[in-house]
Amino acid sequence: MGIDFGTDIYEEPIVAKTFLQEDAQESSLRPKTLREYIGQEKAKGNLAVFIEAAKKRQESLDHVLLHGPPGLGKTTLAGIIAQEMGVNIRITSGPAIEKAGDLAALLTNLNENDILFVDEIHRLNRAVEEILYPAMEDYAIDIIIGKGPSANSIRLDLPHFTLIGATTRSGQLSAPLRDRFGVTLRLELYTPDELCRIVTRSAGILGVEIEQDGAMEIARRSRGTPRIANRMLRRVRDFAEVKADGVITRAVADEALHALEIDYLGLDPIDRRVLGAIIENYSGGPVGLETLAATIGEESVTLEDVYEPYLMQLGFLTRTPRGRCVTRKAYEHLGLSVPTGMADGSEQLQFGQ
Ligand code: ADE
Repeated sequence: MGIDFGTDIYEEPIVAKTFLQEDAQESSLRPKTLREYIGQEKAKGNLAVFIEAAKKRQESLDHVLLHGPPGLGKTTLAGIIAQEMGVNIRITSGPAIEKAGDLAALLTNLNENDILFVDEIHRLNRAVEEILYPAMEDYAIDIIIGKGPSANSIRLDLPHFTLIGATTRSGQLSAPLRDRFGVTLRLELYTPDELCRIVTRSAGILGVEIEQDGAMEIARRSRGTPRIANRMLRRVRDFAEVKADGVITRAVADEALHALEIDYLGLDPIDRRVLGAIIENYSGGPVGLETLAATIGEESVTLEDVYEPYLMQLGFLTRTPRGRCVTRKAYEHLGLSVPTGMADGSEQLQFGQ
């Protein structure tokens, strides 16, 4: 008998990894200062010290690497660092810098102490990365003029700048690049309490009335991720305005999220398909990532970056050297009988990536 793991009913799932158009429209929801920024206390505390010290010395901030799952506020934090330092920020991404010359143009147009933010920095190509080494270390780039035996190299001085790199996969960064960041901050999934404060703050900015229980319901179901919480808030607001009196109560939030097939832990149809495929097709695992991705028709990168961190945090999924396995808790959550002889799962709990 097949298991109904639901279907996607909207084009982009709420957990979509990429920026949706409405995320861009909601830049007003982004905190602009460290004081406004909720959560990531460890990263925030350290950053506050580094920023104050750099300002006191009137120097550029050391290069910063931000890593962690998508949607946790890496770009937001880079904007805040620029604001707190009182400098300009240029925003680009690894795949957007195609040639060494593209990077040289970006770097030579910076002012003293400015910030260059490179999202998805693990996707920089080798030639570009090699320009970055002397730029980060010596604030200089070597430009080759001409070709063949008559080629000449000239050294161009750059302003003292700060590179902020963001990545969902720090393991893919080459060692020489990783070593050139003076500050490395790992962003963690947010707690429900932190997300509840974020949702309440966002509702205030959007001008929608929300009860504490309503905010908490959205928080609990947004898989530790502010971007998802804010997307959910907008969808729940639609339900509140059309089907209720405009106020987001717990009942309205529950009805809206149920209609969007997001369960009480925040799992969406794709999460359930991941767990269901491992159980139905591979007897609970282990199954290799590529095989699993092909089975459910998702890209392996999306599975790894977007779906697995939360399933692992819930203790539903483990990564083993032989492949992915589901735990007893996953069977229980899906309402399936646990195979006899399966360990109780407590020893398999894994947090983080
Ligand atoms: N909106 C999105 N992320 C946020 C955060 N960390 N703090 C406050 N508001 C947010």
